[in-house]
Formats: sequence, structure tokens, C-alpha cells
Amino acid sequence: MKPAHLARYYGDQFQDQSIVDRYHKRPAYDECVFDALTAQLPAHARILDVGCGTGEIAIPLAERGYVVTAVDPSAAMIEKAAQKSQQVEWHQAYAEAFHLPEDLSLIVTANSLHWMDWPVVFPKFKQALRADGMLAVITGGELSDYAGQAEVMALVKAYSTNQDFTPFSLIELIEQGGFFKTERVVSTDPVPYRQSIADFVESIHARNGFSIERMGIDKAREFDAKVTAVLQQYDPFQVNGVLVTTVNFGRPCDGERGE
Ligand SMILES: C[S@@+](CC[C@H](N)C(=O)[O-])C[C@H]1O[C@@H](n2cnc3c(N)ncnc32)[C@H](O)[C@@H]1O
Repeated sequence: MKPAHLARYYGDQFQDQSIVDRYHKRPAYDECVFDALTAQLPAHARILDVGCGTGEIAIPLAERGYVVTAVDPSAAMIEKAAQKSQQVEWHQAYAEAFHLPEDLSLIVTANSLHWMDWPVVFPKFKQALRADGMLAVITGGELSDYAGQAEVMALVKAYSTNQDFTPFSLIELIEQGGFFKTERVVSTDPVPYRQSIADFVESIHARNGFSIERMGIDKAREFDAKVTAVLQQYDPFQVNGVLVTTVNFGRPCDGERGE
């Protein structure tokens, strides 16, 4: 059973314009993530990016010459993605309702699979993949190991509109549910990353629980001021940390009912 904080109601926060407008403030995925995703792919392979957001994974893959389809239920996300690139076939739909292309060599979910209804999507993924195809589940990629992180996280917990949140491991949950078997894991070395405090604070509003529409502008500004004050104790202008991204490659399964 999925934890309450992963309910569709919360996933729908990515339809809010304030999140989409700030999405580019989140750190981009490192090149080595794309190297890992494509290392074993034939040239011009067909790839599906599910929960694609504004195209952070789909666009670089298309630019490497792959045939990429991408889907996301957020109209605002898809509109922004389509403005950025016409090399990807974009679709606005929930993964659960989307008619998946066939003959895929790779399906990618990047920080999005936790929002989906696993008993529905995993059998669809299994059906759409070639016999040698893989599902790549990407997690991480957010700034960590910066001075003041524990204090910032305490503020995040207090101000999030997703008060159901509890820490979780997506991979453990889907493996325990019988939906996925990891065959290979690639984790990036910690990549140094620095960002202005102002941009870092904006990037938090591109995350679940921090949509300005849902927080209200007064709460949002109060939160911003507190986070800024915490971070300025350590550096007046910047946040310095690292990014670590993990890709679990494996095969989708039908869930507890069987392979
Ligand atoms: C944190 S964003 C990740 C976006 C992008 N993959 C990335 O890595 O930057 C999560 C995305 O999952 C999408 N999402 C939420 N529920 C979904 C569902 N049921 N099917 C497909 N995508 C969903 C959201 O609209 C949002 O764009």
C-alpha cells in the first residue's frame, strides 16, 4: 500500500503554475546520468519518459538522437516542455490513462514514479517494453550536504502543505510490492553544486508541498525569510552542496499477483 503522502491529490500539485514557473531553479541532472541511461541502448532506440515535467530527462535524450515520447498530466508542465523542444513527442495525460507506445527499449521515470498507481502502471510498462528493454527509475538529484541543511529541513517539515509526508524509499516500496526487480544500480559521485540563496529558495517552491497557490503568499514569504536567514548564517550569498543521483535499472513486474 502506498503511503498517504503519495496520494494523487498531492501529485496534482505539479499542475500549479507557481511550481512550473520555478521548475528551472531545480538543479539539472548531470551528464553522467544520461551516459548511464544510454550506455546500453541501440542507436535511435525508442524511449518513453513518464512524469516528464518540463523535459529535464526527455530533451537531453532526444538531443542524443533517440526517439523520445514523454507524458505528464500537468498541462502547464507540458506547455513549458513543448516551448523548450520540438524534438520530443509530448502528451498530457496521467500515466495510468495513457496508451503507451510499443517496442520501447527504455522507460524512464525521474522523481515521478512515486506519484503513480503502481498496480496499473507496472503491467503497462512491462507490456510496452521490448524483451531486452529496461525500466530506469531515477531518484535524487536535489542539493544536499550544505551548511544549515538540518535547520532548513525542519522549516520544510513545518511549512509543507503535505503534512502527511514521511521519509520513504521508493525502490524498497516497489520491490516489496513485487512491481520491480533491480538488476543494476548506477549512482553518480557527489557532484559539487552551488546556487544563490535566492534561487535555492525559489527551487523549494518547485517541489511538492511548496506550491505558492496552496501555501498562500504570506506563508510563502514567511518561509522564504526564515530559510534565507538560516542560510545567511553560513554564507551571505550562496548555498554550496552536492548532487547525487541514482538510477535503478530493472524489469517491471505485475505486482503481488505474479511476474
Ligand atoms: C518532481 S516532478 C519530476 C519531473 C521530471 N521527471 C524531472 O525529473 O524533473 C514529478 C512529475 O510527476 C508528474 N506526475 C504526477 N502524477 C503523475 C501520474 N499519475 N502520471 C504521470 N506523471 C505524474 C507531475 O505532474 C510532475 O511533473
